[in-house]
Amino acid sequence: MKTPAQEYDKYTNDDHDVWRILFERQTANLRDKVWSRFYACLELTDINSYGVPDFRQLNPRLTGLTGWDIRVVKGIIPVDEFIRLLYRRHFCSSTWLRRRDQLDYLEEPDMFHDTFGHIPLLADKQYADFVYRFAELGMKHIHDEKALVLLDRFYWFTIEFGLMKENGALRIYGAGLISSFGEANHVYTDAIELRPFDVQEIMQTPFRNDQVQNLYFVVQDMRDLWASIDEAEKIIECILIGKKEKV
Ligand SMILES: [Fe+2]
Repeated sequence: MKTPAQEYDKYTNDDHDVWRILFERQTANLRDKVWSRFYACLELTDINSYGVPDFRQLNPRLTGLTGWDIRVVKGIIPVDEFIRLLYRRHFCSSTWLRRRDQLDYLEEPDMFHDTFGHIPLLADKQYADFVYRFAELGMKHIHDEKALVLLDRFYWFTIEFGLMKENGALRIYGAGLISSFGEANHVYTDAIELRPFDVQEIMQTPFRNDQVQNLYFVVQDMRDLWASIDEAEKIIECILIGKKEKV
C-alpha cells in the first residue's frame, strides 16, 4: 500500500504563518519548563520558525541521527498499526495544521503536536532508544488487548505527558505538553497532582484524552525512564498471568 505523502506545496502562506506563530510562542513559553535536550534537538533536526517543516528535508536529517523518520498518516490509526510503525522506527505525523483561530485547542492532534512535540527528542539517541524499546515491548504483546491497554497508559504518562526532574527542577519531556501552550503552563499550577514515577501505578491508572490532565508522574532521573521498560515488561507479564490485581 502506498504511503501518503506530505504534499508540501499545498501549504498556504497562512499555514506557514500559523506554524511560525506557534513555534515562536511555544519555544519562548518552554524556556525553563522543558528538558534541556529539547532545544539541542530542535537545532539538530533544524525544525525552526521559518515555516512548516518539509519532511523531505527533515527525514534524512533525523534518520542520519538516530535511524528514525516521519511516516505520514491521515488521522488516528489503530494502536497495533502504530506500534508496528514505531518498531520500524517510523513516527507517525499528520500533515494538516490547525487554523489561526485554533491555536489553543484541538480535538485531534495536528502536525504541530506530532512534529514539534514528538520529533525533536527522537534526535536524542537515548530517548529514541527508549521509544524503540517501548515498541519492542509493544510488538511482543501486539495481539493481547489487555497488554495494549497497559502499554497505552505507559505511553500516555511518559511519551505524551511525562515530566522529569533535571538538576532538581520540574521539566517537561512529554509531547502533549511540549506542543501545548496552555498545558505546559498548567503543570506549573496548583491545580495538578504530581506523583513519583511508578510503572505499576501508571499501568493501573486510566486516563482521559478529551480533557486537560490533572495527574502527572515525575521521573527523578532520565536513566530511570530508560530502565523502566524492563520493569514494564515484568509487570505486564505478571498481570497477564494473573499474579497482580485486576487492571
Ligand atoms: Fe502525541
